[in-house]
Amino acid sequence: MLTPGHPILTPFDIGNIQLKNRFAVAPMTRVSATEDGNATEQMARYYERFAKGGFGLVITEGIYTDRKFSQGYPCQPGIADHAQAMAWRAVTDRIHSHPSRVFAQLMHAGALNQGNRFIGGSAAPSAVRPKGTQMPFYYGSGQYPMPQAMTDEDIADAIDGFAQAAKRAVDVAGFDGIEIHGANGYLLDQFLTGYTNQRNDRWGGDVRQRLGLMLEVVKAVRTAVGNAAVGVRISQGKVNDYQHKWPEGEAAAEVIFGALADAEVDFIHVTEFEAWKPAYDGGDATLVALARRYADPVPVIANGGLHHLHHAEQAIREGANIIALGKAALANPDFPVRLVDGRGFRELEPSILGPIANIKASELA
Ligand SMILES: Cc1cc2nc3c(=O)[nH]c(=O)nc-3n(C[C@H](O)[C@H](O)[C@H](O)COP(=O)(O)O)c2cc1C
Repeated sequence: MLTPGHPILTPFDIGNIQLKNRFAVAPMTRVSATEDGNATEQMARYYERFAKGGFGLVITEGIYTDRKFSQGYPCQPGIADHAQAMAWRAVTDRIHSHPSRVFAQLMHAGALNQGNRFIGGSAAPSAVRPKGTQMPFYYGSGQYPMPQAMTDEDIADAIDGFAQAAKRAVDVAGFDGIEIHGANGYLLDQFLTGYTNQRNDRWGGDVRQRLGLMLEVVKAVRTAVGNAAVGVRISQGKVNDYQHKWPEGEAAAEVIFGALADAEVDFIHVTEFEAWKPAYDGGDATLVALARRYADPVPVIANGGLHHLHHAEQAIREGANIIALGKAALANPDFPVRLVDGRGFRELEPSILGPIANIKASELA
């Protein structure tokens, strides 16, 4: 039970917006848009439940940015044109009818594309076939295709795609901020990762150089949206390489979090499978603690198995400002209200995410 005045219930400012409490919904892809990539009325109802249920912040699923290589899944929503941005307006209006804020997560799938209606093939830093297999619950099967190595022009298009999408998200769709998806194995993480980035031009090399594209995207998005909140999601693990750890260990954390702080992001969202555990074997600092250490005073959003209050409180003690919940929010869109009321929370029913991860009628009942 949460008693009034608990730190997790206190307001917090990210950039120029105030959040009423420290609960956020983590980004979760639900492949429920139209085939044209437009957000739907069903999605508006789905997202509104989180705002109604007490979350101070909702972060959307990964939204594709351009009409080129960014789309990764069939029925993934986009914000690559005006019509798609207008479709999101209905979602943000619904969330804003409650005292909650909403950030758009902008995502470029890169090599992890398993459904793109604009272009054949996929694009990546280098022609390296992704590890693992495509995700069936997003309509995929079998190996990922071999991607093509991006040209300078492809890279410029990807940066511009993020910037234009961010502008549409804020100016047309009414989002309060932008989360740039730099995590989980998608394009920007492919550039950051040594084994997928074998380039020897300005976009490859050591960690700082491999972070270069992410920093360029931050800069372009910042220019496009002015004062709106702009942050980045960072992880070690990937959807297709769950156990991955930065081979450079804490030295990578220092470079990555330090450079993002220098780039003046408004927040850093760190995610680990179990975010309360040490980031590296043999060390004792969590990724949250490392983000706080190297990016201070940038606000930190923490995610990964933090639905038990003692884990969330540990993350806050280690420097997290906001706690983002994924599966627990799916199972309990009213998670914050439940905790305040002293009600327990439910486990996630596997049928919600299977066989396809689309929004189910039972969730909206
Ligand atoms: C169905 C589903 C879809 C997801 N889609 C995304 C996504 O679009 N973008 C993203 O950054 N993370 C995505 N994630 C990861 C979650 O944001 C979160 O990191 C993960 O569920 C771990 O947090 P939890 O333990 O609170 O569930 C997804 C997770 C789930 C379960």
